[in-house]
Amino acid sequence: MLHKLLSIIKLKKQINSDNFIKRIRSLVIGEGMLQDGNIPLIEFAIKNMPNYGSVIEIGSYGGLSTNLIIYLMQKHKKNNPVFNCDAWIYEGFDDQINKNILHIDGREDVLREDYSIYMKNAFINATKFLSLNNLPHSFHLKSDVFFSKWNKQETETDLFGSEIKLGGEINFAYIDGGHSYDVVLNDFENVANHLVIDGYMLIDDSAPHLNFGSAKIIGKIKKDNRFVLVAKKPNHMFIKKKH
Ligand SMILES: C[S@@+](CC[C@H](N)C(=O)[O-])C[C@H]1O[C@@H](n2cnc3c(N)ncnc32)[C@H](O)[C@@H]1O
Repeated sequence: MLHKLLSIIKLKKQINSDNFIKRIRSLVIGEGMLQDGNIPLIEFAIKNMPNYGSVIEIGSYGGLSTNLIIYLMQKHKKNNPVFNCDAWIYEGFDDQINKNILHIDGREDVLREDYSIYMKNAFINATKFLSLNNLPHSFHLKSDVFFSKWNKQETETDLFGSEIKLGGEINFAYIDGGHSYDVVLNDFENVANHLVIDGYMLIDDSAPHLNFGSAKIIGKIKKDNRFVLVAKKPNHMFIKKKH
Protein backbone atom coordinates (compact mmCIF):
# COMPACT_ATOMS: atom_id res chain seq x y z
CA MET A 1 0.00 0.00 0.00
CA LEU A 2 2.96 2.35 0.72
CA HIS A 3 4.02 2.36 -2.94
CA LYS A 4 0.45 3.39 -3.92
CA LEU A 5 0.57 6.34 -1.47
CA LEU A 6 4.01 7.42 -2.72
CA SER A 7 2.82 7.30 -6.30
CA ILE A 8 -0.28 9.41 -5.42
CA ILE A 9 2.01 12.02 -3.75
CA LYS A 10 4.22 12.01 -6.88
CA LEU A 11 1.16 12.57 -9.10
CA LYS A 12 0.08 15.50 -6.88
CA LYS A 13 3.46 17.17 -7.54
CA GLN A 14 3.13 16.64 -11.30
CA ILE A 15 -0.43 18.01 -11.30
CA ASN A 16 0.85 21.35 -9.94
CA SER A 17 2.68 21.83 -13.25
CA ASP A 18 -0.16 20.63 -15.51
CA ASN A 19 -1.38 23.80 -17.23
CA PHE A 20 -4.73 22.33 -18.33
CA ILE A 21 -5.58 21.21 -14.79
CA LYS A 22 -4.60 24.69 -13.54
CA ARG A 23 -6.90 26.24 -16.18
CA ILE A 24 -9.95 23.92 -16.03
CA ARG A 25 -11.52 25.48 -12.91
CA SER A 26 -11.88 28.80 -14.70
CA LEU A 27 -13.28 27.17 -17.87
CA VAL A 28 -16.13 25.21 -16.29
CA ILE A 29 -18.96 26.16 -13.92
CA GLY A 30 -18.76 24.63 -10.46
CA GLU A 31 -15.19 25.32 -9.44
CA GLY A 32 -16.02 24.81 -5.75
CA MET A 33 -17.27 21.29 -6.44
CA LEU A 34 -13.88 19.64 -6.93
CA GLN A 35 -11.73 18.95 -3.88
CA ASP A 36 -8.02 19.41 -4.70
CA GLY A 37 -7.13 16.06 -3.17
CA ASN A 38 -9.48 14.28 -5.58
CA ILE A 39 -7.33 15.17 -8.60
CA PRO A 40 -4.34 12.90 -7.84
CA LEU A 41 -6.75 10.17 -6.72
CA ILE A 42 -8.66 10.34 -10.01
CA GLU A 43 -5.39 10.36 -11.94
CA PHE A 44 -4.04 7.40 -9.94
CA ALA A 45 -7.23 5.40 -10.54
CA ILE A 46 -7.23 6.14 -14.28
CA LYS A 47 -3.54 5.33 -14.63
CA ASN A 48 -3.79 2.04 -12.76
CA MET A 49 -7.30 0.77 -13.53
CA PRO A 50 -7.65 -2.44 -15.56
CA ASN A 51 -7.95 -1.77 -19.30
CA TYR A 52 -11.44 -3.29 -19.68
CA GLY A 53 -14.73 -1.84 -18.40
CA SER A 54 -16.38 1.57 -18.35
CA VAL A 55 -15.68 4.66 -16.29
CA ILE A 56 -18.78 5.87 -14.42
CA GLU A 57 -19.44 9.25 -12.87
CA ILE A 58 -22.49 9.87 -10.72
CA GLY A 59 -23.16 13.62 -10.39
CA SER A 60 -21.81 15.72 -13.26
CA TYR A 61 -23.07 19.23 -12.30
CA GLY A 62 -21.41 21.73 -14.70
CA GLY A 63 -18.89 19.22 -16.05
CA LEU A 64 -15.77 19.96 -14.01
CA SER A 65 -15.03 16.39 -12.88
CA THR A 66 -16.35 14.94 -16.15
CA ASN A 67 -13.95 16.96 -18.29
CA LEU A 68 -11.09 16.36 -15.88
CA ILE A 69 -11.69 12.59 -16.06
CA ILE A 70 -11.80 12.68 -19.87
CA TYR A 71 -8.61 14.79 -19.98
CA LEU A 72 -6.77 12.42 -17.64
CA MET A 73 -7.95 9.42 -19.68
CA GLN A 74 -6.51 10.99 -22.83
CA LYS A 75 -3.29 11.79 -20.96
CA HIS A 76 -2.93 8.14 -19.93
CA LYS A 77 -4.14 6.79 -23.30
CA LYS A 78 -7.23 5.10 -21.88
CA ASN A 79 -10.09 4.84 -24.34
CA ASN A 80 -12.71 3.13 -22.20
CA PRO A 81 -16.23 4.53 -22.54
CA VAL A 82 -17.29 7.13 -19.98
CA PHE A 83 -20.88 7.11 -18.70
CA ASN A 84 -22.33 9.71 -16.36
CA CYS A 85 -25.65 10.86 -15.01
CA ASP A 86 -27.06 13.80 -13.11
CA ALA A 87 -30.57 14.64 -12.04
CA TRP A 88 -29.66 18.37 -12.13
CA ILE A 89 -31.54 18.98 -8.89
CA TYR A 90 -30.90 22.20 -6.97
CA GLU A 91 -29.92 21.24 -3.41
CA GLY A 92 -30.69 24.17 -1.06
CA PHE A 93 -29.08 24.97 2.31
CA ASP A 94 -32.43 24.62 4.13
CA ASP A 95 -33.98 21.66 2.28
CA GLN A 96 -34.06 19.55 5.46
CA ILE A 97 -36.27 22.15 7.17
CA ASN A 98 -38.44 23.28 4.25
CA LYS A 99 -38.94 21.19 1.10
CA ASN A 100 -41.19 23.74 -0.62
CA ILE A 101 -38.72 26.49 -1.50
CA LEU A 102 -39.01 27.20 -5.22
CA HIS A 103 -36.08 29.60 -5.59
CA ILE A 104 -32.31 29.25 -5.13
CA ASP A 105 -30.60 30.30 -1.90
CA GLY A 106 -30.65 34.04 -1.33
CA ARG A 107 -32.41 34.93 -4.63
CA GLU A 108 -36.21 34.80 -4.68
CA ASP A 109 -36.20 35.87 -8.34
CA VAL A 110 -34.17 32.83 -9.54
CA LEU A 111 -36.19 29.63 -9.74
CA ARG A 112 -34.81 26.16 -9.03
CA GLU A 113 -36.36 24.81 -12.22
CA ASP A 114 -34.45 27.44 -14.20
CA TYR A 115 -31.29 26.42 -12.37
CA SER A 116 -31.77 22.84 -13.61
CA ILE A 117 -31.96 23.96 -17.23
CA TYR A 118 -29.03 26.36 -16.80
CA MET A 119 -26.72 23.81 -15.16
CA LYS A 120 -27.54 21.04 -17.64
CA ASN A 121 -26.84 23.40 -20.56
CA ALA A 122 -23.60 24.52 -18.87
CA PHE A 123 -22.58 20.86 -18.63
CA ILE A 124 -23.37 20.21 -22.30
CA ASN A 125 -21.56 23.37 -23.46
CA ALA A 126 -18.44 22.73 -21.38
CA THR A 127 -18.26 19.11 -22.49
CA LYS A 128 -18.72 19.91 -26.19
CA PHE A 129 -16.10 22.67 -25.82
CA LEU A 130 -13.48 20.64 -23.96
CA SER A 131 -14.15 17.02 -24.94
CA LEU A 132 -15.76 17.09 -28.39
CA ASN A 133 -13.62 14.24 -29.69
CA ASN A 134 -14.19 12.08 -26.61
CA LEU A 135 -17.77 12.79 -25.60
CA PRO A 136 -19.10 10.83 -22.63
CA HIS A 137 -22.44 9.02 -22.62
CA SER A 138 -24.33 11.44 -20.38
CA PHE A 139 -27.85 11.02 -19.07
CA HIS A 140 -30.30 13.31 -17.33
CA LEU A 141 -31.31 10.69 -14.77
CA LYS A 142 -31.28 10.03 -11.06
CA SER A 143 -28.64 7.43 -10.28
CA ASP A 144 -31.16 4.77 -9.19
CA VAL A 145 -32.87 5.00 -12.60
CA PHE A 146 -29.49 5.06 -14.36
CA PHE A 147 -28.39 1.87 -12.57
CA SER A 148 -31.72 0.18 -13.18
CA LYS A 149 -31.16 0.75 -16.92
CA TRP A 150 -27.52 -0.36 -16.51
CA ASN A 151 -28.61 -3.59 -14.81
CA LYS A 152 -31.15 -4.30 -17.56
CA GLN A 153 -28.59 -3.43 -20.29
CA GLU A 154 -31.03 -1.02 -21.90
CA THR A 155 -30.20 0.93 -25.04
CA GLU A 156 -30.61 4.70 -24.64
CA THR A 157 -29.82 7.91 -26.52
CA ASP A 158 -27.40 10.07 -24.56
CA LEU A 159 -27.46 13.88 -24.25
CA PHE A 160 -25.10 14.21 -27.22
CA GLY A 161 -27.34 12.13 -29.49
CA SER A 162 -25.46 8.79 -29.48
CA GLU A 163 -27.39 5.57 -29.09
CA ILE A 164 -25.61 3.27 -26.64
CA LYS A 165 -26.25 0.07 -24.73
CA LEU A 166 -25.77 0.51 -21.00
CA GLY A 167 -24.38 -2.15 -18.69
CA GLY A 168 -21.30 -4.27 -18.18
CA GLU A 169 -18.18 -3.99 -16.10
CA ILE A 170 -16.90 -0.82 -14.46
CA ASN A 171 -13.20 -0.11 -13.96
CA PHE A 172 -13.43 3.27 -12.17
CA ALA A 173 -16.39 5.00 -10.53
CA TYR A 174 -16.52 8.53 -9.17
CA ILE A 175 -19.51 8.81 -6.83
CA ASP A 176 -20.58 12.45 -6.38
CA GLY A 177 -24.37 12.57 -6.82
CA GLY A 178 -26.94 12.69 -4.04
CA HIS A 179 -25.23 12.87 -0.65
CA SER A 180 -27.87 11.28 1.62
CA TYR A 181 -26.94 7.95 3.20
CA ASP A 182 -29.55 5.95 1.27
CA VAL A 183 -28.61 7.40 -2.11
CA VAL A 184 -24.87 6.88 -1.57
CA LEU A 185 -25.49 3.34 -0.29
CA ASN A 186 -27.48 2.55 -3.41
CA ASP A 187 -24.77 4.05 -5.67
CA PHE A 188 -22.08 2.12 -3.78
CA GLU A 189 -23.93 -1.22 -4.04
CA ASN A 190 -24.63 -0.73 -7.73
CA VAL A 191 -21.01 0.13 -8.48
CA ALA A 192 -19.73 -2.68 -6.24
CA ASN A 193 -21.76 -5.24 -8.22
CA HIS A 194 -20.15 -4.25 -11.52
CA LEU A 195 -16.67 -3.11 -10.47
CA VAL A 196 -13.91 -5.35 -11.83
CA ILE A 197 -11.23 -6.80 -9.57
CA ASP A 198 -8.53 -4.09 -9.21
CA GLY A 199 -11.09 -1.43 -10.24
CA TYR A 200 -11.32 1.81 -8.23
CA MET A 201 -14.15 3.68 -6.53
CA LEU A 202 -13.73 7.25 -5.23
CA ILE A 203 -16.44 8.66 -2.96
CA ASP A 204 -16.55 12.45 -2.91
CA ASP A 205 -17.39 14.31 0.32
CA SER A 206 -16.45 11.28 2.39
CA ALA A 207 -13.91 13.00 4.67
CA PRO A 208 -14.54 11.96 8.30
CA HIS A 209 -15.40 15.48 9.55
CA LEU A 210 -18.30 15.86 7.08
CA ASN A 211 -21.91 15.29 8.04
CA PHE A 212 -22.99 13.78 4.70
CA GLY A 213 -24.22 10.23 4.05
CA SER A 214 -21.14 9.95 1.81
CA ALA A 215 -18.94 10.26 4.93
CA LYS A 216 -21.11 8.08 7.16
CA ILE A 217 -21.03 5.14 4.75
CA ILE A 218 -17.22 4.77 4.90
CA GLY A 219 -17.29 2.67 8.08
CA LYS A 220 -19.52 0.16 6.31
CA ILE A 221 -17.27 -0.03 3.21
CA LYS A 222 -14.17 -0.52 5.36
CA LYS A 223 -15.82 -3.64 6.82
CA ASP A 224 -16.77 -4.97 3.37
CA ASN A 225 -14.21 -7.65 2.51
CA ARG A 226 -14.49 -6.95 -1.23
CA PHE A 227 -12.78 -3.57 -0.74
CA VAL A 228 -9.43 -2.24 0.43
CA LEU A 229 -8.83 1.43 1.23
CA VAL A 230 -6.26 2.90 -1.16
CA ALA A 231 -6.14 6.48 0.10
CA LYS A 232 -7.89 9.12 2.20
CA LYS A 233 -6.99 12.54 0.84
CA PRO A 234 -9.32 13.49 2.61
CA ASN A 235 -11.96 11.65 0.48
CA HIS A 236 -11.82 7.88 0.43
CA MET A 237 -10.79 5.78 -2.55
CA PHE A 238 -11.14 1.99 -2.53
CA ILE A 239 -9.91 -0.83 -4.75
CA LYS A 240 -11.90 -4.04 -5.26
CA LYS A 241 -10.01 -7.21 -4.40
CA LYS A 242 -10.69 -10.95 -4.73
CA HIS A 243 -12.13 -12.33 -1.48
C1 LIG B 1 -21.55 17.98 -5.96
S1 LIG B 1 -22.41 18.02 -7.46
C2 LIG B 1 -21.36 17.15 -8.56
C3 LIG B 1 -20.11 17.91 -8.88
C4 LIG B 1 -19.32 17.34 -10.04
N1 LIG B 1 -18.92 15.97 -9.82
C5 LIG B 1 -18.09 18.20 -10.28
O1 LIG B 1 -17.01 17.91 -9.73
O2 LIG B 1 -18.19 19.19 -11.02
C6 LIG B 1 -23.67 16.86 -7.15
C7 LIG B 1 -24.60 16.64 -8.31
O3 LIG B 1 -25.38 15.49 -8.04
C8 LIG B 1 -26.68 15.66 -8.57
N2 LIG B 1 -27.58 14.73 -7.88
C9 LIG B 1 -28.18 14.87 -6.69
N3 LIG B 1 -28.90 13.78 -6.40
C10 LIG B 1 -28.73 12.92 -7.43
C11 LIG B 1 -29.21 11.61 -7.73
N4 LIG B 1 -30.01 10.95 -6.88
N5 LIG B 1 -28.83 11.04 -8.89
C12 LIG B 1 -28.00 11.69 -9.76
N6 LIG B 1 -27.53 12.93 -9.53
C13 LIG B 1 -27.87 13.53 -8.38
C14 LIG B 1 -26.99 17.13 -8.36
O4 LIG B 1 -27.95 17.55 -9.33
C15 LIG B 1 -25.61 17.78 -8.55
O5 LIG B 1 -25.47 18.28 -9.86
